[in-house]
Amino acid sequence: MKQMENQETETKPEPKPINVLILAAGLGTRMRSETAKVLHELGGRPLVAHVCRTARTLEPARIIVVVGHQADLVEAAVRTELGDSKVGFAVQTEQHGTGDAVMAARAELADSDSTLLVLSGDVPLVRAESLAGLVQQHRKQGKDAVCTILTVELEDPTGYGRMIRDTDGKFVKIVEHRDATDHERKTKEINSGIYCFDTQRMFAALERVQPVNAQGEYYLTDVPNILRQDGSEVGLHLHEDAREVSGINNRVELAEFESILRRRTLRRLMLESGVTFIDPLHTYVGEDARIGRDTVIYPNVHIEGTSVVGERCVIRAGARLTNATIGDGVTIKDHSMILDSWVGDGCSVGPFAHLRMQSVLMAGAAVGNFVELKKSTLGPKSKAMHLTYLGDATIGTRTNIGAGTITCNYDGKNKHPTTIGDGVKIGSDTMLVAPVTVGNGAVTAAGSVVTRDIEPNTLVAGVPALVKKKLESDEK
Ligand code: UD1
Ligand code: CA
Repeated sequence: MKQMENQETETKPEPKPINVLILAAGLGTRMRSETAKVLHELGGRPLVAHVCRTARTLEPARIIVVVGHQADLVEAAVRTELGDSKVGFAVQTEQHGTGDAVMAARAELADSDSTLLVLSGDVPLVRAESLAGLVQQHRKQGKDAVCTILTVELEDPTGYGRMIRDTDGKFVKIVEHRDATDHERKTKEINSGIYCFDTQRMFAALERVQPVNAQGEYYLTDVPNILRQDGSEVGLHLHEDAREVSGINNRVELAEFESILRRRTLRRLMLESGVTFIDPLHTYVGEDARIGRDTVIYPNVHIEGTSVVGERCVIRAGARLTNATIGDGVTIKDHSMILDSWVGDGCSVGPFAHLRMQSVLMAGAAVGNFVELKKSTLGPKSKAMHLTYLGDATIGTRTNIGAGTITCNYDGKNKHPTTIGDGVKIGSDTMLVAPVTVGNGAVTAAGSVVTRDIEPNTLVAGVPALVKKKLESDEK
């Protein structure tokens, strides 16, 4: 038995490791933008980040990104997505074509005995399974596999490189649209720009590419042509879903992809997570957001970034959640905004509330209309229901913040904290001039301007607020 296993491994050598090369140096003229195409966002993340994430699922040895236009920003976007693990960059200062872009990565890759998967930074919806299918077909040809190209058929192939096959259906060459004859242009099968190469043979052929074509560029597409002329077989992997592997060239396509991605995400949330969307066509949920079972989401809600929403929540129209964490059974009323903040189980937020900068609502707390919390914590079952600003404030349990209360946290230079205890009643229109502390069970009368700390169980009133009397403690 042992021996048989050994034989098995001898006849099936380990496949070569994969390196991924992502071409992302171009500006993308048809976007009509100052911003490099691969930095434009789809589902709230740059195009190149989508490609990087998909590439990583193939567990390549390395991912190299060719950068040029806005190289620093593209590099930063890649690092944000991938961290620093196994990612490298090659700079192509001037863009002389896709072949020239690959050449820029020669020092990083040329010596490695590996399979090179080439992708473009502007093909954000390509699925990992599709790339795996290409790699698998490439590997099937054995260790001599030199090049396999992912192709698709398009009703309107205008602008793309055409795949020319012989009468047996074998690869002959790729011709770019601008270099093709009228007859060649009738071919509907096009080059997706996604390829597998034997790394060393690819670079050897790339050295021989000359910029003799309509655009005066170094074409990567000449590499398969050269390999074929040298007598190697170039494999073609015809892919079903043309849309998936087509790149984004302009803002119309960007918008189309946005709606494809959105549909994909909502479908998954409905079918797998059990979320109800009243109107999926007008609800915007990022790919990385998580939402719990039996949560109901009304139209025009945006849930962005790494937001997590619990079970049995109701999120009414027009709310925006960005990197928010929402517990179970929470109601978020219309047009509320929750940014980088945390809302505990059973809380109620809004309408028109604004929580930001690590604000926290503990379980059962409630904020109502026109209430803003910045870097503030509202304790369990505490309430601030109307027209209030709480900045740099920490508020205890079962405290009520009256209408129109403001923490005056900013003296023009520095921000100061306000601390309010448990069971406090802050009267309407109280100004809390920070830094200030309000003890447990204290009460402020309407219109108080609190400039000094308030002892527990004390009623204050006036401008500035003066002690009126000691109160009976609520505590039993
Ligand atoms: C390329 C292919 C074409 C294919 C099409 C699929 C060539 C010559 N043609 O054409 O056969 O049908 O993709 O979309 O390869 N880039 C650089 N540096 C450069 C030039 C391009 O990094 O100097 C990057 C771009 O940023 C982009 C990718 O390479 O991400 C593709 O370049 P693009 O100019 O869009 O190639 P196409 O003309 O579309
Ligand atoms: Ca393109």
